[in-house]
Amino acid sequence: MSFEPKILGFLCNWCAYAGADLAGVSRFQYASNLRVIRVMCSGRVDPVLIFKAFQKGIDGVAVLGCHHGDCHYQTGNYEAENKMQMTKHILEKIGIDPDRLYLDWVSAAEGKRFSEVVTNFTEQIQKLGPLSKMKDYKE
Ligand code: FES
Repeated sequence: MSFEPKILGFLCNWCAYAGADLAGVSRFQYASNLRVIRVMCSGRVDPVLIFKAFQKGIDGVAVLGCHHGDCHYQTGNYEAENKMQMTKHILEKIGIDPDRLYLDWVSAAEGKRFSEVVTNFTEQIQKLGPLSKMKDYKE
């Protein structure tokens, strides 16, 4: 039986969410493991929400925002980069593989890319296995 990971995606309203919409309209196939939370900017994703997601049994978290220079709030995606770097560092310290957190940029015109990003990240999490099965994971 194959492992179907639970993946949470924080998608920026202006770019990645629109890219997801385009992927759907264009009928691009992608892994159905993603559950989406729409945010106004990737910079608004609080690391606390990511820790909470892992605590609740999510196997992987993707934060997808606008490309550099395209953030509707100027520097939100740079802030997201800093926050995710810090969050990965903390995840490592508490025994969760930082590869379970993924940050990338997808524009509203990149429906195909959205489907590839989601599928690739899902495969990456499948290789890591369920979070609850991690031998060094402590709840
Ligand atoms: Fe999309 Fe900031 S508005 S990342």
